[in-house]
Amino acid sequence: IKFKKFEKIVIIACGTAYNAGLVGKYAIEKWGQIPVDVELASEYRYREPSLDKKTLVIPISQSGETMDTLMALRYAKSKGATIFSVCNTNGSTIGRESDAVLYTHAGPEIAVASTKAFATQLIAMYLIGLEIGRQLEHLSSKKCKEIIKELTQLPAKVEQVLETVEPLRELTRKFKSADSILFLGRHTGYPTVLEGALKLKELAYMHAEGFAGGELKHGPIALIDNGTPVVAIMPTKDSVLAGKMASNIQEVKARGAVVIAISEDEFAGADHLIRIPQVDPLLQPVLAVVPLQVIAYEMAVARGNDVDQPRNLAKSVTVE
Ligand code: M6R
Repeated sequence: IKFKKFEKIVIIACGTAYNAGLVGKYAIEKWGQIPVDVELASEYRYREPSLDKKTLVIPISQSGETMDTLMALRYAKSKGATIFSVCNTNGSTIGRESDAVLYTHAGPEIAVASTKAFATQLIAMYLIGLEIGRQLEHLSSKKCKEIIKELTQLPAKVEQVLETVEPLRELTRKFKSADSILFLGRHTGYPTVLEGALKLKELAYMHAEGFAGGELKHGPIALIDNGTPVVAIMPTKDSVLAGKMASNIQEVKARGAVVIAISEDEFAGADHLIRIPQVDPLLQPVLAVVPLQVIAYEMAVARGNDVDQPRNLAKSVTVE
């Protein structure tokens, strides 16, 4: 794909794939300096949005069969857009109807809740972002190489996170009767907490919401009550956002929340601290989502739910 000919990118997806698309927006806009919209496929197709052959549309779909994503793809195609999909399933309809496909090669994903497919969707978005940055000459080859090196180190870092989550499992079980669990994040931590909250809803059948830290005062802080569990992802300490998240944590703690912070660095402001390895801030979701997936898994088990086949859900949503 020659990215130079496009003026904007539209990512269309549903559920977890949409959350991966949001992370993709952060990476592509930063490295590629091209505007990116991320759209829920089910909303996009009925909105009759304007797009043309200068638009690159990126559908993201694990199954490649999601009806809403497929119909949004067909709409975009009928308007002359180029379709470059990110799919996990070889030979799927979305893949076949696209001009180009980046297969994520996560292998068949059996459990209804997407986990490994999400990780590979993130990596696909990073690769697209790097390639756009390179082609549009907004990313130096030095920076590009640094990021690629970090990408290759991610599997070992994910292993490291998994080796240290035992205390988190225990902690999670303590919250099994909570009415609701809230998640806070900033920058790429924001789409990551949306994904964490989605996982918890799907598997634990608990009310869960993910918020951008900056939105807290605009409404969600009213939800905080004595004992409300709040899971917060700390931005890397070099970022100005780390201080802002630390203030958000103080604000919710002052209203009685019990805060579990996921952080690369030592952080004394939370009730519980889960450490993850240091990584480029744009890549942090790959690591930060793992404890969130563990929370959802452990909570589901503690509440006696079927982790692989949660109620009311199908692996592939081929109807509207
Ligand atoms: O197959 P797709 O990636 O197109 O599926 C999209 C969503 O239905 C899917 O991600 C759903 O949200 C998962 N159950 C999340 O765990």
